[in-house]
Amino acid sequence: MKISFDPTNLLSDMVGEHGLTRSEIKEASSKATAALRAVKKISEEGQQGFPHLPFQAQVAKDILKFAGSVRGTCDTVCVVGIGGSALGAWAIDNAMRGPHPVQPAFSRKNPRLVILDNVDPSFITAALESMDPRRTLAVVIAKSGATAETVATFLIVREWLQKKLGKKARQRIVAVTSSGRGDLAVLAEKEQYRTFEIPANVGGRFSVLSPVGMAPAALIGIDIRKILKGAAEMTHLCWQPKLDKNIALRAALYQYLIWTRKNKSIQVAFPYSNHLWGTAFWFRQLWAESLGKATLRNGEKVHVGQTPVAALGTTDQHSQVQLYMEGPNDKVLTFWAVEKQRDRGKIPKGKVGLEAFDYLAGQNLAKLIDAERRATAAALTGAGRPNCTFTLERVDEEHLGAFLQLLEFQTAFTGELLAIDAFDQPGVEMGKKFTFALMGRRGFESFREQFDAYEAKRQRLS
Ligand code: PA5
Repeated sequence: MKISFDPTNLLSDMVGEHGLTRSEIKEASSKATAALRAVKKISEEGQQGFPHLPFQAQVAKDILKFAGSVRGTCDTVCVVGIGGSALGAWAIDNAMRGPHPVQPAFSRKNPRLVILDNVDPSFITAALESMDPRRTLAVVIAKSGATAETVATFLIVREWLQKKLGKKARQRIVAVTSSGRGDLAVLAEKEQYRTFEIPANVGGRFSVLSPVGMAPAALIGIDIRKILKGAAEMTHLCWQPKLDKNIALRAALYQYLIWTRKNKSIQVAFPYSNHLWGTAFWFRQLWAESLGKATLRNGEKVHVGQTPVAALGTTDQHSQVQLYMEGPNDKVLTFWAVEKQRDRGKIPKGKVGLEAFDYLAGQNLAKLIDAERRATAAALTGAGRPNCTFTLERVDEEHLGAFLQLLEFQTAFTGELLAIDAFDQPGVEMGKKFTFALMGRRGFESFREQFDAYEAKRQRLS
């Protein structure tokens, strides 16, 4: 497994006043060591479980055994979940089997993954019309066991299965949830669904290596042992105390400094690989929800956060790069490069007698996409726009597992550097409570009153 981080284009030597000086980096390195110690402490004390996930061999074994037992019975695995309960599975599917719609043909041997992560009614209706209940395995995922979108969609999917399969529908449902907590766990027990547990100390966006990501991945035939192997290897590196050995800590420190010292309030995650597009969206949630916070751990109000943006190379060179080059210098760009693409994409040798065509003859797309990335980095650097690069040797299971774990560690370290709690999400909760109130859930009457007061005020003012 080979992943590297190149921060050179974050240096003032490269991008002038928008970059970091060597003394700024040196002075802050003790903060990085303290951040590492803090994350180690919460991991060892069991407050946070994500660093332990790659080592849970029995969980992986149970998932693989179940996946083996249902192999060949379905051509569709339908995940019902949202946020951290959906994005990891999408990232893995997208990375390992390629982006839709260019995945290999689906069959019982190679089931497709359908993720129902929005309650847009026409999306759900179209998804159900595209699946056959006799050949679908539904995987409902919710840590809380109560998220309105997931519960509502699951009720629809459950009835859709029951109508065709009657009592046997329960054999076609898998629940991934907290054990002994939440109504999904209660229903799963009552209706005897196969269940996998989300550990209590693992939050949604840090749960991809738990059954939240591993169960759907195994069910569509991805080798989760290799994903976990890469993640385990990366975990060992992430506990290294030396900055030059610890890629996640180094990336966290540089990103933290460029963000807080040079006011780069936006980070563009810029993969040059369609396979990593899903991972960019997974990262967007991880970074936004973990690091966008109102208060420091000591209660001081700060309203800190760096807005993550996903851009795809080279496609978004023709959509976003004009802004990145000449717009406000408020961004740091993080390229995600792949050293060895799965295919070279050979361009035919034959010449057509036109300059715009013939210089490309006999070359390949892998070289072109890499040249485009390096050219864009050079142009941005020349314009004083700080950027850095993660390079994955290849996108396979091991590198993917390692990269996901790297980004989780980087996020956790950055939370400590900022002195915030990267693991809660109080800002999401209020909207959830208003939704419960608006949909008439018992126990949320006071939120209904608050909401009505807000509506009344709007009416008065409009
Ligand atoms: O990271 C998080 O905790 C959230 O994004 C959750 O994953 C999301 O809100 C879904 O929650 P649940 O799994 O309880 O349905």
